[in-house]
Amino acid sequence: MAKKILVIHGPNLDLLGQREIDVYGKLTLDQINSALQKLAAELKVEIETVQLASEGDIVKKIGSAKKEGFSALVINPAAYTHYSVAIRDAVAAVSIPTIEVHLSNIYAREEFRHTSVIAGVASGQVSGFGMNSYLLGLRAAVELISK
Ligand code: DQA
Repeated sequence: MAKKILVIHGPNLDLLGQREIDVYGKLTLDQINSALQKLAAELKVEIETVQLASEGDIVKKIGSAKKEGFSALVINPAAYTHYSVAIRDAVAAVSIPTIEVHLSNIYAREEFRHTSVIAGVASGQVSGFGMNSYLLGLRAAVELISK
């Protein structure tokens, strides 16, 4: 049976394509999800993509990921990246390989974006490659669970 990977998009990522196009580009979340589904098929894994605006919903989804049969997590925590200890703790608790992704290069932006409270409990981070951050993140997740 194909392994399952969970992809979580955090708050405001549903607005991609209309939101700060100079920073995030013109692609919509649907287009990103389609590209992820295509890559998942090539890599012979199943993915579920979900966009969640609230911290509690993200924490709950991560908390049930293992029970729901997911072997890895790819997450763009969006603004929560920079301050959500609750999401960090959820990632640490679920103990499945977790790749943190960002469309923009958070280290080249405002100072408050330079800190990720998630990075320390993630397997790794991909930041700054637009949609490719997600695709590279998915590839990394697949690599980690096929070892
Ligand atoms: C983001 C970067 C965050 O700082 C920001 O709050 C986002 C998107 C990115 O993908 O580049 O909402 O995670």
